[in-house]
Amino acid sequence: METLRTRVGIVGAGPAGLLLSQLLHLRGIESVVLESRSRGYVEQRVRAGVLEHGIAELLERCGAGDRLRREGLVHTGVELLFDGCRHRLDFAELTGKAIVVYGQQEVVKDLIALRLGAGAAILFEAPASAIEGLDSDRPSIRFSQNGEERRLECDVIAGCDGFHGVSRLAPPEGALRLHVRDYPYGWLGILARVAPANDELIYCRSERGFALLSMRSPEVSRLYLQVAPDEPLEDWPDDRIWDELRARLRTGDGWTVTPGPIFEKGVTAMRGAVVEPMRYGPLFLAGDAAHIVPPTGAKGLNLAAGDVRLLAAALGAHFEKGDDSLLDAYSDACLGRAWLAEEFSAFMTATLHTLSGDPFEERLAEARLRHLVNSREAAASLAERYVDLNSLCG
Ligand code: APR
Ligand code: PHB
Repeated sequence: METLRTRVGIVGAGPAGLLLSQLLHLRGIESVVLESRSRGYVEQRVRAGVLEHGIAELLERCGAGDRLRREGLVHTGVELLFDGCRHRLDFAELTGKAIVVYGQQEVVKDLIALRLGAGAAILFEAPASAIEGLDSDRPSIRFSQNGEERRLECDVIAGCDGFHGVSRLAPPEGALRLHVRDYPYGWLGILARVAPANDELIYCRSERGFALLSMRSPEVSRLYLQVAPDEPLEDWPDDRIWDELRARLRTGDGWTVTPGPIFEKGVTAMRGAVVEPMRYGPLFLAGDAAHIVPPTGAKGLNLAAGDVRLLAAALGAHFEKGDDSLLDAYSDACLGRAWLAEEFSAFMTATLHTLSGDPFEERLAEARLRHLVNSREAAASLAERYVDLNSLCG
């Protein structure tokens, strides 16, 4: 079997794996990225689109900011819509910071172009099938490419292969613990070629269920509807989607969303999950491989970026100075932030979704929303976690 060798073997070319390889490159540390899908597939995969303040800055600093600076939509607030009224949370005033709305697939495109432009080894259509030797000093990743079995020997392996990857399952049984919460909700998401009906995001709680107005550009709207986790997409022809969006996203003074041609739709079930610890010997998990969050807090991509920022710094200290203190602290530091994000996402989900079947829970959520718009402290607490949760964890 052909054997390749590198310092850091990265499984997965999502935001976590790609950003890690760029951050390592800037430190002069060589890596190889293995990705099971094609380049076209990962570049077209539609995901969320909110970058925290500090993560947008990180992308800029690491050289991936050119298009982000031109096309990213800087938002200094979001709105909450409930009881037929819109309430703005002014992030600039509450935190002095802003978010950037920019699709995750655009971040992925930018990072791939940057890495390949620098001659990086990103092997597409090269699925990892096993991670071996984790208890030895010669860990390796077994993968296939063009029908051939290959092996990548590494000093360190970064498992950036998402929640359904192989990395999380590689350590011996019982070494890692998985905590899971399945939410009784799903999101039906669409992309539509129509100008967004508002300049900023609107998170809406209505008695018909949650809805979210977001966007990708001045011409493209991104919208979501709360549905059942196993909702059949076939039950949602375009007209029904727009009717439901207009029934939920409306105010007492006649404002509602404008329909337009839908060119992408899908249903995602909502789940939170955290793996503890995020390390086993030379294997470090990052991003969705280690934790997933329901999308209501817009934290998935931001957590992934926060993990690899720390991992790159820790690997820098390891390779440059033989100092392993940051590597040893990696799992605890990331888990502290992951649980904060789980808590925030659970809070946003419980506050904005309806139809829980529990009237007591519904009243609590309404009280929480009223408190958010009546108390500057409550609004500021939401704002600091929404805009820059990463910065709250060192
Ligand atoms: N071998 C190689 N690659 C794999 C394997 C495997 N066995 N299994 C999965 N992959 C790839 C997937 O095809 C995907 O491209 O790993 C990549 C993981 O990328 P993401 O799922 O995007 O995860 P991550 O990089 O951690 O980014 C987290 O993605 O799902 C969103 O909400 C989430 O925004 C967050 C972000
Ligand atoms: C998105 O634009 O896709 C988006 C925005 C905010 C969220 C989730 C998704 O909370």
